[in-house]
Amino acid sequence: MTTDPWPFHQLVLRTPRLELRPDDDAGLRELNEAALAGVHAPDEMPFYVPWTQAPPDVLGRQTMQFYWRHRAEVGPTGWTLNFLVRLDGTVIGTQGLKATNFAVTREVSSGSWITRRLQGQGFGTEIRAAVLQFAFDHLGADAARSGAFADNPASRAVSRKLGYREDGTNTLERQGSWATEIRLLLRSEDFVRPGWKLEVEGLNPCLELLGI
Ligand SMILES: CC(C)(COP(=O)(O)OP(=O)(O)OC[C@H]1O[C@@H](n2cnc3c(N)ncnc32)[C@H](O)[C@@H]1OP(=O)(O)O)[C@@H](O)C(=O)NCCC(=O)NCCS
Repeated sequence: MTTDPWPFHQLVLRTPRLELRPDDDAGLRELNEAALAGVHAPDEMPFYVPWTQAPPDVLGRQTMQFYWRHRAEVGPTGWTLNFLVRLDGTVIGTQGLKATNFAVTREVSSGSWITRRLQGQGFGTEIRAAVLQFAFDHLGADAARSGAFADNPASRAVSRKLGYREDGTNTLERQGSWATEIRLLLRSEDFVRPGWKLEVEGLNPCLELLGI
Protein backbone atom coordinates (compact mmCIF):
# COMPACT_ATOMS: atom_id res chain seq x y z
CA MET A 1 0.00 0.00 0.00
CA THR A 2 1.39 3.44 -0.89
CA THR A 3 0.79 6.46 1.31
CA ASP A 4 -0.58 9.70 -0.13
CA PRO A 5 2.44 11.98 -0.79
CA TRP A 6 0.29 15.03 0.05
CA PRO A 7 -1.25 14.29 3.46
CA PHE A 8 -3.35 17.47 3.40
CA HIS A 9 -5.71 15.74 0.94
CA GLN A 10 -7.12 13.88 3.94
CA LEU A 11 -7.48 16.83 6.31
CA VAL A 12 -11.06 18.03 6.92
CA LEU A 13 -12.47 20.45 9.49
CA ARG A 14 -16.23 20.31 10.02
CA THR A 15 -18.40 22.95 11.68
CA PRO A 16 -22.20 22.79 12.08
CA ARG A 17 -22.78 24.25 8.59
CA LEU A 18 -19.45 24.18 6.76
CA GLU A 19 -16.62 21.96 5.62
CA LEU A 20 -13.05 23.30 5.42
CA ARG A 21 -10.39 21.45 3.41
CA PRO A 22 -6.91 22.60 2.32
CA ASP A 23 -7.10 23.94 -1.24
CA ASP A 24 -7.10 21.72 -4.33
CA ASP A 25 -7.13 22.78 -7.99
CA ALA A 26 -10.79 21.98 -8.71
CA GLY A 27 -11.77 23.88 -5.56
CA LEU A 28 -9.63 26.86 -6.58
CA ARG A 29 -11.61 27.15 -9.84
CA GLU A 30 -14.76 27.36 -7.74
CA LEU A 31 -13.10 29.84 -5.39
CA ASN A 32 -12.35 31.99 -8.42
CA GLU A 33 -16.07 32.02 -9.29
CA ALA A 34 -16.88 33.05 -5.72
CA ALA A 35 -14.33 35.88 -6.00
CA LEU A 36 -15.60 37.06 -9.39
CA ALA A 37 -19.12 37.18 -7.95
CA GLY A 38 -17.82 39.90 -5.59
CA VAL A 39 -16.04 39.99 -2.24
CA HIS A 40 -16.52 43.60 -1.13
CA ALA A 41 -18.08 46.88 -2.25
CA PRO A 42 -16.24 48.48 -5.19
CA ASP A 43 -15.27 51.52 -3.09
CA GLU A 44 -13.74 49.40 -0.29
CA MET A 45 -10.39 47.61 -0.07
CA PRO A 46 -10.16 45.23 2.90
CA PHE A 47 -7.03 43.41 1.64
CA TYR A 48 -3.36 44.39 2.08
CA VAL A 49 -2.70 43.22 -1.48
CA PRO A 50 -5.52 44.60 -3.67
CA TRP A 51 -5.92 41.34 -5.60
CA THR A 52 -9.65 41.84 -6.20
CA GLN A 53 -8.84 44.74 -8.53
CA ALA A 54 -7.20 42.50 -11.14
CA PRO A 55 -9.10 42.19 -14.43
CA PRO A 56 -11.41 39.11 -14.32
CA ASP A 57 -9.32 37.14 -16.84
CA VAL A 58 -6.14 37.68 -14.79
CA LEU A 59 -7.63 37.28 -11.32
CA GLY A 60 -8.13 33.52 -11.64
CA ARG A 61 -4.57 32.80 -12.75
CA GLN A 62 -3.09 35.05 -10.05
CA THR A 63 -5.27 33.37 -7.45
CA MET A 64 -4.08 29.92 -8.52
CA GLN A 65 -0.42 31.03 -8.44
CA PHE A 66 -0.86 32.55 -4.97
CA TYR A 67 -2.35 29.34 -3.56
CA TRP A 68 0.14 27.08 -5.34
CA ARG A 69 3.03 29.12 -3.90
CA HIS A 70 1.72 28.57 -0.39
CA ARG A 71 1.14 24.87 -1.01
CA ALA A 72 4.63 24.43 -2.44
CA GLU A 73 6.25 26.02 0.61
CA VAL A 74 4.52 24.14 3.43
CA GLY A 75 7.16 22.80 5.81
CA PRO A 76 8.10 22.63 9.50
CA THR A 77 9.73 26.10 9.57
CA GLY A 78 6.79 27.86 7.96
CA TRP A 79 3.39 27.07 6.52
CA THR A 80 0.18 28.58 5.29
CA LEU A 81 -2.84 26.30 5.07
CA ASN A 82 -5.52 27.81 2.85
CA PHE A 83 -8.79 26.10 3.66
CA LEU A 84 -11.54 26.22 1.05
CA VAL A 85 -14.89 26.76 2.75
CA ARG A 86 -17.76 24.67 1.37
CA LEU A 87 -21.45 25.16 2.10
CA ASP A 88 -23.52 22.19 0.87
CA GLY A 89 -20.55 21.17 -1.31
CA THR A 90 -20.04 24.59 -2.98
CA VAL A 91 -16.97 26.75 -2.33
CA ILE A 92 -18.08 30.05 -0.76
CA GLY A 93 -14.78 31.48 0.47
CA THR A 94 -11.49 30.73 2.12
CA GLN A 95 -9.90 30.74 5.55
CA GLY A 96 -6.12 30.84 5.78
CA LEU A 97 -4.02 29.81 8.77
CA LYS A 98 -0.32 30.58 8.88
CA ALA A 99 2.64 29.97 11.21
CA THR A 100 6.39 30.48 11.26
CA ASN A 101 8.49 28.06 13.31
CA PHE A 102 5.31 26.89 15.04
CA ALA A 103 7.16 24.34 17.22
CA VAL A 104 8.85 27.26 18.98
CA THR A 105 6.46 30.21 18.58
CA ARG A 106 3.17 28.34 19.17
CA GLU A 107 1.47 31.20 17.32
CA VAL A 108 -0.75 31.27 14.24
CA SER A 109 -2.27 34.08 12.21
CA SER A 110 -5.30 34.06 9.94
CA GLY A 111 -7.07 35.80 7.10
CA SER A 112 -10.32 35.04 5.28
CA TRP A 113 -13.08 36.08 2.93
CA ILE A 114 -16.61 34.94 2.11
CA THR A 115 -18.34 35.69 -1.19
CA ARG A 116 -20.29 38.91 -0.72
CA ARG A 117 -23.76 37.44 -1.30
CA LEU A 118 -23.33 35.19 1.73
CA GLN A 119 -21.75 37.67 4.14
CA GLY A 120 -23.56 38.68 7.31
CA GLN A 121 -24.93 35.18 8.03
CA GLY A 122 -22.35 34.16 10.60
CA PHE A 123 -20.13 32.18 8.20
CA GLY A 124 -17.11 34.44 8.76
CA THR A 125 -17.36 33.89 12.51
CA GLU A 126 -17.87 30.15 12.04
CA ILE A 127 -14.74 29.66 9.89
CA ARG A 128 -12.54 31.76 12.18
CA ALA A 129 -13.85 29.88 15.22
CA ALA A 130 -13.09 26.65 13.32
CA VAL A 131 -9.42 27.41 12.70
CA LEU A 132 -9.03 28.78 16.22
CA GLN A 133 -10.28 25.49 17.69
CA PHE A 134 -8.03 23.66 15.23
CA ALA A 135 -5.01 25.74 16.30
CA PHE A 136 -5.62 25.76 20.06
CA ASP A 137 -7.11 22.30 20.61
CA HIS A 138 -5.49 20.19 17.88
CA LEU A 139 -2.13 21.87 17.13
CA GLY A 140 -1.43 23.19 20.64
CA ALA A 141 -1.17 26.90 19.77
CA ASP A 142 -0.87 29.42 22.61
CA ALA A 143 -1.93 32.50 20.64
CA ALA A 144 -3.52 33.62 17.39
CA ARG A 145 -2.99 36.90 15.58
CA SER A 146 -5.01 38.72 13.00
CA GLY A 147 -5.32 42.21 11.59
CA ALA A 148 -7.83 44.39 9.82
CA PHE A 149 -7.96 47.86 8.39
CA ALA A 150 -9.67 50.28 10.78
CA ASP A 151 -12.45 50.72 8.20
CA ASN A 152 -13.32 47.00 8.09
CA PRO A 153 -16.09 46.73 10.73
CA ALA A 154 -17.16 43.20 9.75
CA SER A 155 -13.71 41.66 10.21
CA ARG A 156 -13.15 43.58 13.44
CA ALA A 157 -16.57 42.47 14.75
CA VAL A 158 -15.68 38.82 14.10
CA SER A 159 -12.39 39.24 16.00
CA ARG A 160 -14.07 41.05 18.89
CA LYS A 161 -16.75 38.38 19.27
CA LEU A 162 -14.13 35.64 19.51
CA GLY A 163 -12.13 37.43 22.21
CA TYR A 164 -9.21 39.04 20.34
CA ARG A 165 -7.72 42.17 21.90
CA GLU A 166 -6.26 45.10 20.02
CA ASP A 167 -2.49 44.91 19.96
CA GLY A 168 -1.35 48.18 18.38
CA THR A 169 -1.54 49.57 14.89
CA ASN A 170 0.45 49.76 11.69
CA THR A 171 0.32 52.47 9.07
CA LEU A 172 0.17 50.89 5.63
CA GLU A 173 0.08 52.15 2.08
CA ARG A 174 -3.25 51.34 0.45
CA GLN A 175 -3.87 52.30 -3.14
CA GLY A 176 -1.67 55.39 -2.90
CA SER A 177 -2.96 56.62 0.49
CA TRP A 178 -2.18 55.65 4.07
CA ALA A 179 -4.49 53.43 6.07
CA THR A 180 -4.45 52.19 9.66
CA GLU A 181 -4.25 48.48 10.33
CA ILE A 182 -5.43 47.29 13.75
CA ARG A 183 -3.34 44.36 14.97
CA LEU A 184 -5.28 41.77 16.94
CA LEU A 185 -4.12 39.14 19.42
CA LEU A 186 -6.01 36.25 20.99
CA ARG A 187 -4.44 34.18 23.78
CA SER A 188 -5.85 30.67 24.00
CA GLU A 189 -7.31 31.31 27.47
CA ASP A 190 -9.25 34.34 26.17
CA PHE A 191 -10.91 32.48 23.26
CA VAL A 192 -14.69 33.03 23.42
CA ARG A 193 -15.69 29.58 22.26
CA PRO A 194 -18.74 28.96 20.08
CA GLY A 195 -21.45 26.60 21.30
CA TRP A 196 -20.24 23.76 19.07
CA LYS A 197 -17.13 21.60 18.80
CA LEU A 198 -15.00 21.33 15.69
CA GLU A 199 -14.66 17.90 14.08
CA VAL A 200 -11.19 17.21 12.65
CA GLU A 201 -10.27 14.30 10.41
CA GLY A 202 -6.93 13.29 8.88
CA LEU A 203 -4.58 15.44 10.95
CA ASN A 204 -1.99 12.89 12.13
CA PRO A 205 -0.15 12.42 8.79
CA CYS A 206 0.12 16.24 8.44
CA LEU A 207 1.70 16.97 11.83
CA GLU A 208 5.33 16.44 10.81
CA LEU A 209 5.06 18.93 7.92
CA LEU A 210 3.57 21.47 10.32
CA GLY A 211 6.55 21.13 12.65
CA ILE A 212 4.59 19.35 15.38
C1 LIG B 1 -14.84 39.73 7.16
C2 LIG B 1 -15.77 38.62 6.67
C3 LIG B 1 -14.92 37.37 6.40
C4 LIG B 1 -16.77 38.31 7.76
O1 LIG B 1 -17.63 37.30 7.27
P1 LIG B 1 -19.21 37.36 7.54
O2 LIG B 1 -19.75 36.03 7.14
O3 LIG B 1 -19.78 38.56 6.93
O4 LIG B 1 -19.16 37.49 9.14
P2 LIG B 1 -20.31 37.22 10.21
O5 LIG B 1 -21.65 37.26 9.57
O6 LIG B 1 -19.93 36.00 10.98
O7 LIG B 1 -20.10 38.45 11.21
C5 LIG B 1 -19.98 39.76 10.71
C6 LIG B 1 -20.14 40.71 11.88
O8 LIG B 1 -19.78 42.01 11.42
C7 LIG B 1 -20.80 42.91 11.76
N1 LIG B 1 -20.81 43.96 10.75
C8 LIG B 1 -20.88 43.82 9.42
N2 LIG B 1 -20.87 45.03 8.83
C9 LIG B 1 -20.79 45.94 9.82
C10 LIG B 1 -20.75 47.36 9.85
N3 LIG B 1 -20.78 48.07 8.74
N4 LIG B 1 -20.66 47.97 11.05
C11 LIG B 1 -20.61 47.24 12.20
N5 LIG B 1 -20.65 45.89 12.23
C12 LIG B 1 -20.73 45.26 11.05
C13 LIG B 1 -22.05 42.08 11.72
O9 LIG B 1 -23.09 42.70 12.43
C14 LIG B 1 -21.58 40.79 12.37
O10 LIG B 1 -21.51 40.90 13.76
P3 LIG B 1 -22.71 40.32 14.68
O11 LIG B 1 -22.79 38.85 14.40
O12 LIG B 1 -22.24 40.63 16.05
O13 LIG B 1 -23.95 41.03 14.26
C15 LIG B 1 -16.54 39.04 5.39
O14 LIG B 1 -17.30 40.17 5.69
C16 LIG B 1 -15.66 39.30 4.20
O15 LIG B 1 -15.31 38.38 3.48
N6 LIG B 1 -15.32 40.58 3.95
C17 LIG B 1 -14.52 40.95 2.80
C18 LIG B 1 -13.11 40.46 2.93
C19 LIG B 1 -12.50 40.83 4.24
O16 LIG B 1 -12.70 41.89 4.78
N7 LIG B 1 -11.67 39.91 4.75
C20 LIG B 1 -10.94 40.12 5.97
C21 LIG B 1 -9.71 40.90 5.65
S1 LIG B 1 -8.88 41.32 7.17
